[in-house]
Amino acid sequence: MIVQINQSLAKLNTFGIDQKASRLIWAHSAEEIANYLKHHGAPALVLGGGSNMLLTNDVEGDVLKVDIHGREVVFEDNDHVHIRFGAGENWHEVVLWTLMQGLGGLENLSLIPGNCGTAPVQNIGAYGVELQDVFVSCEGVMIDDSSPFKLSKEEARFGYRNSIFKNEWKGKAVITQVVLKLTKRNHRINAEYGAIKGELQKMGVSKPTPKQISDVVVAIRKSKLPDPSQIGNSGSFFKNPVVSTEKAEELLDKYPNMPSYPAEGGKKLAAGWIIEKCGWKGHREKDAGVHQNQALVLVNYGNATGREIHLLAQNIMEDVYARFGIQLEPEVNLI
Ligand code: EPU
Repeated sequence: MIVQINQSLAKLNTFGIDQKASRLIWAHSAEEIANYLKHHGAPALVLGGGSNMLLTNDVEGDVLKVDIHGREVVFEDNDHVHIRFGAGENWHEVVLWTLMQGLGGLENLSLIPGNCGTAPVQNIGAYGVELQDVFVSCEGVMIDDSSPFKLSKEEARFGYRNSIFKNEWKGKAVITQVVLKLTKRNHRINAEYGAIKGELQKMGVSKPTPKQISDVVVAIRKSKLPDPSQIGNSGSFFKNPVVSTEKAEELLDKYPNMPSYPAEGGKKLAAGWIIEKCGWKGHREKDAGVHQNQALVLVNYGNATGREIHLLAQNIMEDVYARFGIQLEPEVNLI
């Protein structure tokens, strides 16, 4: 364990917000985390890849940075391999590494910022695939009594950008390892998403490999989403809202071109489209802005504070509610 006093968190959150932690604790194993919890109790904040949070204040107290590495095969047959990843492994590096081994499963989830350990928390998803499609189990430590836990896929209760870690276990558990199931052959290629299909057609590829899907996803993401190492951001700032079928029909009468998709409980709408329709796309106030290629992404052009970005988000939410009668929900955690 390494302890740093009065440390800036600017490099540890993808929004690049410069707030400080009274103490920053780097933990390199589940044992270190259990030990820390036994002696100090709950930290003020548990930090993974810092890719789904907006810091609006300094953190008074300890920030526990989960920096556990490791990639280990725990099961293998002719078709599949289960690999256990340390929670602190960078997600995209893991995706590329599995593709280099000829393994399939993670290709649609290429270039998502963040670490392995936080991927189950919000069930990361993109281009028709969600983490739950490859998830076997995860392990970690309970915060209240520092006991170990192991959760299966069913127990993790995944939903759209949702899991037990955002509900019953919110703030109660630290994930230290994640086991994922990957294919060695007969890969389950998922190329149905419109933009992927279009790119593959352009390339003249009809039977794509996982690596080719990954290349296409990387190209699409690069064209639409800002690179956090250049422009601070946390990916989609809001969730796509699910509304009743009646509400969706009422809006479709008014806006026939509005994207809508079937979803549990009604229709899922595209928050990016709605925000663009309200005129916010490309909007900038000082260094806080709405990305010019994807209105669902809020950005820090350099020196924005978390509060400025939060204020911008609140203004967008109020405007969307006034015009569309839809209450947007942030996907990013406000700290
Ligand atoms: N759209 C607009 N204007 C915009 C943004 C989107 O009109 O500014 C329209 C698009 O043209 C399209 C629809 O809205 O018809 C959906 O857009 P897109 O395919 O870009 O996906 P999204 O719904 O905006 C979601 C995820 C992304 C993920 C993509 C691809 C959420 C909150 N976001 O975005 O995830 O990469 O689908 O699967 O579900 C993330 O979570 O950080 C993230 C980037």
